[in-house]
Amino acid sequence: MATDQIKNNQAKNDPAKSEQEKEAAARASLQFVKDGQVVGLGTGSTAAHFIKLLGEKVRNGLRIRGIPTSIRSRELALSLGIPVTTLDECQEIAVTVDGADEVDPQLRLIKGGGGALLREKIVASATKQLVIVADASKQVPVLGKFPLPVEVIRFAQALVAKRIRALGAEVQLRMGPDGKPYVSDENNHILDCRFGQISNAEGLARQLDEMPGVVEHGLFIGMAKVVLFARGNEIVELRR
Ligand code: 5RP
Repeated sequence: MATDQIKNNQAKNDPAKSEQEKEAAARASLQFVKDGQVVGLGTGSTAAHFIKLLGEKVRNGLRIRGIPTSIRSRELALSLGIPVTTLDECQEIAVTVDGADEVDPQLRLIKGGGGALLREKIVASATKQLVIVADASKQVPVLGKFPLPVEVIRFAQALVAKRIRALGAEVQLRMGPDGKPYVSDENNHILDCRFGQISNAEGLARQLDEMPGVVEHGLFIGMAKVVLFARGNEIVELRR
C-alpha cells in the first residue's frame, strides 16, 4: 500500500473532521511561538495549516524568521510574507512546529510520509522545543502501522532494501505521481519499510543509522517535547 493510501485510511472515518482536527492542532501550537524567534516550519498538510496561521500572525505584526523543512514549505511561507532564513545563517531554532505520521505514548514518532524526513530531522535536531501537531488518528500505542520511510542514496538503494528486508520488513521504493521514483529535496530516493509493530524502536533506529547508504530514517526518538493532538473539539497536550 502506498503512503498516500495509508494517509487516506488514517483519515477514512471522516476526512473533513480530520482536516478540522489538523487545523485545530496547528492553531493550538501558535502559543509556543514568541516574537523575535527563529521558527522551524514543518512539512505536510498539518504543518501547512500552521504556516498559514503563522502568516496571519506575521501580517498582524509578529516578527519571526522561519526555517522551512522543505522546498514546498519554503514556497508556502514566502507566498504568505513570512521571512525565511537558512541553517547557514542561523543554527539555533527556538521552536519548530511539524506534523507526524505516528506518535506513541513516549512521544516517539514516525515521520516522512510527506518525503521531507531528512531536512525535518536536521531542523528538529537544531531545535530547542519541537512541537508536533496532529489529528487524533496519529496517536498509536505502538509504532509501525505506518510504513517507516528510509531515505537512501540512489547508488545503494537495492543493497539497503535487501538489508532492510533481512531485518523482517516489506520494502517498497516510493514512487511519485509521475510514476517515477520519488526524489527528495536532497535528491535521494525513499524506501517505505513495513515492519509491522516496532517493539524496539531504539534498536531499529541504531541498525538503520549504522547501515551504509541510509541517509536518514523516519524514527524521531527523544526529539518531540510537546505533542498537540486534536480530538474533535478537544486539544490533548502531551509533554516529555
Ligand atoms: C513529512 C512529514 C509529515 O509531517 C507527516 O507525513 C504528516 O503529514 P500530514 O500532516 O499531512 O498528515 O513527516 O515528511
